[in-house]
Amino acid sequence: MEAKERIILTGDRPTGRLHIGHYVGSLRRRVELQNEGNYDKMYVFIADAQALTDNIDNPEKVRQNVIEVALDYLSCGLDPEKVTLFIQSQIPELTELSFYFMDLVSVSRLQRNPTVKTEIQMRGFGGESIPVGFFTYPISQAADITLFKATTVPAGEDQEPMLEQSREIVRRFNHIYGDTLVEPSIMLPTNAVCCRLPGTDGKAKMSKSLGNCIYLSDSAKELKKKVNSMYTDPEHIHIEQPGHLEGNTVFIYLDAFCEDSDFEKFLPEYKNLDELKAHYTRGGLGDGTCKKFLYNVLNDRLEPIRARRAELEKDIPAVYEILRKGCEKAREAAIQTMDEVRRAMKINYFDDAELIAEQAKRFAK
Ligand code: TRP
Repeated sequence: MEAKERIILTGDRPTGRLHIGHYVGSLRRRVELQNEGNYDKMYVFIADAQALTDNIDNPEKVRQNVIEVALDYLSCGLDPEKVTLFIQSQIPELTELSFYFMDLVSVSRLQRNPTVKTEIQMRGFGGESIPVGFFTYPISQAADITLFKATTVPAGEDQEPMLEQSREIVRRFNHIYGDTLVEPSIMLPTNAVCCRLPGTDGKAKMSKSLGNCIYLSDSAKELKKKVNSMYTDPEHIHIEQPGHLEGNTVFIYLDAFCEDSDFEKFLPEYKNLDELKAHYTRGGLGDGTCKKFLYNVLNDRLEPIRARRAELEKDIPAVYEILRKGCEKAREAAIQTMDEVRRAMKINYFDDAELIAEQAKRFAK
């Protein structure tokens, strides 16, 4: 057998513009993976069908955010020549595969999926009122991954239960129907601070509803305003007082973004972040100085992204064309896998001359 191809696949729900939490948690790494070229194929997709499972009354929001997310991807440096960018709903094979996967998963297994469990609680779906589509989205996500024979799924820790469930489905499928699909593994962010960036208000997570996000598409002016209003150390009232780093969002963001070279450029009084932190905890360093530095660092990272976005926004039809071509390419792979799946499941009635001959013989006597 030929060596297994190394295939990356990952995606995002189009429920809002992407923010700097997405950037440090995943986008930055995706661009590196794309450029390192250690993988045979790479897919990044917009999970609009999954977004609809819990935004069923808001199709317009999903539609608007498909293009926003595509712009965010491209402006971060994902290159359609190297990565297949596609939209989930445009690949009908995904729904087909999901339907067959439903035979392989029990209701109780879905109920045990921790992500589904917490989301059911969070959204307050009482008992039986949960929409079937939402309840079964781990199955659909298993199809997203396995239809493209992905070996590697870069994602946050919160997606591990989805990957576990996908592997179970693959094992079950291959056991019943013969070796066809590939077991995927998760690729977690390497840097702990990058796993989950808190909101600008210090709350655990950036979220649109809390209004505590810094978006990739924010202007320099918006960025400055948001950084200036960031949560720091509430007990650090006078400059001379020692400041605390724990839960201090300015320093958490610096951990995630700043490099030694930023000090040379923007704050030459210090050599690196350790020196800055030492001064802050010793006392005598004001939040204003740290915020100004953070603004400069963030702006330096976001400026090229913003500039690329501005270019892309001038030709939106071209962006849709990139997505259309990506969908076409993704479908070629999808059709190939579904042919194999149908053959394995013995539902390939019309492309199996042997089957037809066999049946003819059976009925001939
Ligand atoms: N569930 C993922 C999220 O909420 C999005 C997603 C859908 C995904 N299908 C996927 C991620 C397949 C990785 C692989 O972010």
